[in-house]
Amino acid sequence: MAKGPVRVLVTGAAGQIGYALVPMIARGIMLGADQPVILHMLDIPPAAESLNGVKMELIDAAFPLLKGVVATTDVVEACTGVNIAVMVGGFPRKEGMERKDVMSKNVSIYKSQASALEQHAAPDCKVLVVANPANTNALILKEFAPSIPEKNVTCLTRLDHNRALGQISERLKVPVSNVKNVIIWGNHSSSQYPDVNHAVVETEAGEKPVRQLVADDAWLDGGFITTVQQRGAAIIKARKLSSALSAASAACDHIRDWVLGTPKGTWVSMGVYSDGSYDVPPGIIYSYPVMCENGKWSIVQGLHINEFSRKKLDATANELVEEKALAYSCLS
Ligand code: NAD
Ligand code: LMR
Repeated sequence: MAKGPVRVLVTGAAGQIGYALVPMIARGIMLGADQPVILHMLDIPPAAESLNGVKMELIDAAFPLLKGVVATTDVVEACTGVNIAVMVGGFPRKEGMERKDVMSKNVSIYKSQASALEQHAAPDCKVLVVANPANTNALILKEFAPSIPEKNVTCLTRLDHNRALGQISERLKVPVSNVKNVIIWGNHSSSQYPDVNHAVVETEAGEKPVRQLVADDAWLDGGFITTVQQRGAAIIKARKLSSALSAASAACDHIRDWVLGTPKGTWVSMGVYSDGSYDVPPGIIYSYPVMCENGKWSIVQGLHINEFSRKKLDATANELVEEKALAYSCLS
């Protein structure tokens, strides 16, 4: 029997990630080639004309899976009945703005959009926050939408995860699809910890540890980590714009694996509400290794954390605890 349409909200849809993301969703890359979708696109009034242009292009692309498009600047209309919400909209940092100024603008947006989602989205709505500071925006959304189950609010660190896979693939000259089980711990910021201690490569002779195949601990504990941590800044330097196609693709990967499940024996990284696993403080949105089944994620437990990793897990957790305090000070 044909599936009914799923309503997917993209906020900030007139922006550059939005422009890359909505055709991916309409083509079935996020939810599968048999899943019809209705796209809800939200932006702010100054971007209304541009948003309407995106709607015109979606119609012109004649995507078979696309059963409707809502393009609006009204947050209630945008959130009504949505099953999946991808929160890309936000205020970018402008020249002369301090970190606290950006935080203040964005946490107020996420506080008000939390209420709209809570009141108008489908009760089981899954939320992915992409806009920076992604972990803290997601935390604020979760805190101000108490009736949305806390497990339904996540943030994007899959881009960092995919960047780590890409670096290993380039270094070993193996297909990226043969590399798996890297981990991004912590914040989607330069304090994140890309960890390869449990990562493997599928070879003709079975799975081999990345550490054994790379055989260069100095690089894995040094240049590899900083390259992944700084990749967003390197893209901005090269493109004069922040990453968009890779961010959109990672958002599709995040939702697809969450809804349809991770392959057996494979985990991915997601920013989720911390329950104290791996001695990370509870009450922050922290990136963990997760496996997904039946539309639910669970943190992979029992991985050995060595002393080097422990320090890095703690440093990025400390940054998130500080960001949380800063966010609350902006809202008070
Ligand atoms: P952009 O400036 O091109 O687009 C942002 C859009 O959001 C604009 O169209 C803007 O009008 C809209 N917007 C602003 N306030 C809004 C509001 N209150 N409601 C709805 N829409 C609103 O930016 P972009 O390049 O698309 O990036 C979007 C965000 O994603 C940024 O915060 C960026 O830092 C972040 N980002 C995150 C990752 C990640 O991996 N987590 C990766 C890349 C970019
Ligand atoms: C990225 O990781 O590419 C972005 O978060 C960078 C940014 O600052 O927008």
